Amino acid sequence: VTSDVAGRYRQVLGQYPTGVVVVTALDDKGGPLGMTVGSFTSVSLDPPLVAFLPDKGSSSWAALEKSGDRFCINVLGNSQEDICRKIAVRKRDKFVDIPWHVSPQGQPVIDGCVAYIDCVIDQVVDAGDHYIVVCAVTELDVESVTDPLLFFRGGYGSFTPLSLASADMNLVDQLRQVDIARPVMETLAVRFDTEVTAVCLVHGELCLVAAVGLSETAVAPSRVGQRMPFLPPVGSVFAAYGGQELLNTWLLGLDPAAGPEQRAYYEEVAETISSRGYSVALGHENSGSVERAMTRLNVGDPGVTPEGLRAAVRSLAEGYNPTELNIDSRYELHLASAPVFDSAGRVVFTLNLWGPERLLTVGEITARTNALTDAAEEATHALRYAESPFVE
Ligand SMILES: Cc1cc2nc3c(=O)[nH]c(=O)nc-3n(C[C@H](O)[C@H](O)[C@H](O)COP(=O)(O)O)c2cc1C
Repeated sequence: VTSDVAGRYRQVLGQYPTGVVVVTALDDKGGPLGMTVGSFTSVSLDPPLVAFLPDKGSSSWAALEKSGDRFCINVLGNSQEDICRKIAVRKRDKFVDIPWHVSPQGQPVIDGCVAYIDCVIDQVVDAGDHYIVVCAVTELDVESVTDPLLFFRGGYGSFTPLSLASADMNLVDQLRQVDIARPVMETLAVRFDTEVTAVCLVHGELCLVAAVGLSETAVAPSRVGQRMPFLPPVGSVFAAYGGQELLNTWLLGLDPAAGPEQRAYYEEVAETISSRGYSVALGHENSGSVERAMTRLNVGDPGVTPEGLRAAVRSLAEGYNPTELNIDSRYELHLASAPVFDSAGRVVFTLNLWGPERLLTVGEITARTNALTDAAEEATHALRYAESPFVE
């Protein structure tokens, strides 16, 4: 095969995504053996058969085959990319720091994997430079309810249901409107050399739907797709402009143990925001850790629970919308947020201006919040114009 053909084969077949499994067994000393495999597939229900395709030159397969004819297929979860990489190397003792337990059939099941399938070789078919190893299923179960790890175009990822996004016409409308505001976001991002994002309130969650520019405090390559629960102190701009019912929904997110004074405090915060036109969050550290927790939850990391995230969000209260700033002090501006309205006067999304790492004077913060509210107004006008292009 010429390198031309090989390149084309890899490029074209790389367009097809796979899951990732680790095929395991124990060697004659009882040590774990493993091989990372993307070519795993279900084959037959009656009788239950599965298959995978090891490379004829694979040393990992040679070791597995030598160990006997029984294997355990481990379906990896989307937080197990590191395990996938550790096993996908040509060496012995790959299981250092990978906790596992024993399957009913006696082979390693990697802790936290999505599912395991115990099996025994049924037949090995010769297929070019690979074997097709067909195995009869002896035992199988779901191990943990997380999304699987996916492999596609040389990179790892997780499953996002397209149908959810496109079935949500409300969100599609909002995305179109955010797109109209993109030039305004770009101008603002360039002026302060930072990131400007747009956040929608979708089904009771704050959803970051667009980002322009880069911020110094980002904890992930992209903030797009981040989702946050809608509860104090976050999402205050939606709560401030959304009417009494939305304000009540927001306040329901307060700690159940919180007294009426907390409720009154946040009602006042909402009033302040609607009179001055923006909200601010000071301090990078706490917000950064919440953002990290949120990213982990969104990719299905079992170490973060929705309730844990809600508690972490509540703990941000201190840095949000301080009643007054001391003119002689400097502050870390984490984020300022202002509303963009549709022609019916509803907040479609918020524009968010991210602050730099360094401390800012009160004057510098005011320059940013002024520019932000101007930009949000400009975006509101752009939406109004786009919705009725024939009206002067
Ligand atoms: C995502 C992924 C999928 C893989 N799928 C297969 C596969 O289906 N068959 C195979 O022989 N090797 C596959 N490999 C390669 C092996 O896991 C392993 O990296 C390689 O074979 C190491 O060399 P060795 O097998 O000689 O030890 C895959 C590797 C990765 C990272």
